[in-house]
Amino acid sequence: MDFQTNRQTSQAELPPAPRCTLVIFGATGDLTGRLLVPALYNLARLKALHPEFRVIGIGHRALDDEGFRRRLKEAADQVFASRGEEAQASFEAPVWKWLMGRTSYLQGDFEEERTYADLSQALAAEPGGVIFYFATAPGYFQTIARHLYEAGLLKQAGGRWRRVVIEKPFGRDLASACELNKQLTRVVHENQIFRIDHFLGKETVQNILVSRFANSVFESNWNRLYIDHVQITAAESIGVERRSAFYEQTGALRDMVPNHLFQLLAMVAMEPPNSFDADAVRTEKEKLLDAIHIQTPAEALQNSVRGQYQSGLVNGKPMRGYREEEGVAPDSTTETYVALKLSIDNWRWAGVPFYLRTGKALARRQTQIVIAFKDAGHALFRQSAQEKPPANTLVLQIQPDEGLFFHMKAKVPGSKIRIAPVSMDFRYADHFPPSHSSGYETLIYDCMVGDATLFQRAADIELGWEAVQPFQQAWAESGEIHFYRAGSHGPAAADVLLARDGRRWLSLE
Ligand code: BG6
Repeated sequence: MDFQTNRQTSQAELPPAPRCTLVIFGATGDLTGRLLVPALYNLARLKALHPEFRVIGIGHRALDDEGFRRRLKEAADQVFASRGEEAQASFEAPVWKWLMGRTSYLQGDFEEERTYADLSQALAAEPGGVIFYFATAPGYFQTIARHLYEAGLLKQAGGRWRRVVIEKPFGRDLASACELNKQLTRVVHENQIFRIDHFLGKETVQNILVSRFANSVFESNWNRLYIDHVQITAAESIGVERRSAFYEQTGALRDMVPNHLFQLLAMVAMEPPNSFDADAVRTEKEKLLDAIHIQTPAEALQNSVRGQYQSGLVNGKPMRGYREEEGVAPDSTTETYVALKLSIDNWRWAGVPFYLRTGKALARRQTQIVIAFKDAGHALFRQSAQEKPPANTLVLQIQPDEGLFFHMKAKVPGSKIRIAPVSMDFRYADHFPPSHSSGYETLIYDCMVGDATLFQRAADIELGWEAVQPFQQAWAESGEIHFYRAGSHGPAAADVLLARDGRRWLSLE
């Protein structure tokens, strides 16, 4: 992450990254085709890759280089089509050709020594750095790291740096995450490990720090004296799609909460760091995660709602219920929706509830943070208000329709004092050129230049799991599941969670 002012886009002026090879384990998987390679293409378009940059994809499938490149192109075509006509029309064939010209494929089993011997040979001529990207099922993380170590591929010398990027989910619970950290740090130094959370690559997520710390008007009110509560929502309109095998084992809590939602929570609630250096930022985030109140299982049961979608209409199109999806058990109790109430035990946030919710097959895609301020608290307008207007809210809109919206009150013109809700809106699209990036561009580039600000340290991951552990425990004993219709706003029980405190969710519409 590179903080400069006075510029239109964050990536327009990137100097080329140092020379390196990116080795992708899991090269024929969804992540590589849909996200990693399109992000490399975007970086190549911006001339942010070194002229000698190379990609080596490793996978089980029998493919030659040409077959691999064809797969990547098919996946990229779908991605660009989904990003709209403009993204599709601006596709630059020579840039793609340049990237594919330095992309090769190595067929290999992640558990066999031979694969690493072949890889050693392929990397022998690389005088620069190497990034090993683990885009595989989590079960392979330890195995690959150990084999890389045994093959001497993690040794650094001079400009020959070696880094490892690890995707989520990082563990299934606190114990497995601690064990994974322990095993990894046996073979690779902590400062070589880049634990990725793609939410941190999103411009709007990085903008949370700028909104808070570059605008004194917000920060001076950003505490329990003025804020009534905070809502964090990551709603998706898609169902589980082709990922049922993964999702059945994972569920909404593990998939989204200790990682993506906690990153949003940390950005919105952390104290100002001493600087934007990687360690300064990560230390403050860690302190915040450490301050999340650890609930007893009984409290966790009270303060959580698990849901699962049934068939319905999403954006006018029929969607099957979760239990009817291919690969899902007909009596599955995996949650596709979760709502939680958390609190933070520190001076700034004592007494301010944080409500988090995430789910699939909801009415619309909407990721946002709502800062709900306290009422003005003065009886001045008691006589005049026909109906009490809502208190101020600041909405940090992460996606889509990215921006920042402040809902306030104004006098309706006329001889009487009447008050109406109005809104001050900032939309990215009105001020900056459209970006067709997924967030992976920033993160891959940052890893190449060795900037770890947007990556997670071992402790962040463990603190996240520690805070969700009571929910996992409570649900293992009494995991009531609340069904909701696909295309709805989620289970009614999630509304009750807030109604109990006299509050309600900001509508997804
Ligand atoms: C992934 C989850 O990490 O994030 C998915 O595994 C989810 O289930 C996705 O759909 C959401 O990311 P985004 O960037 O589309 O909001």
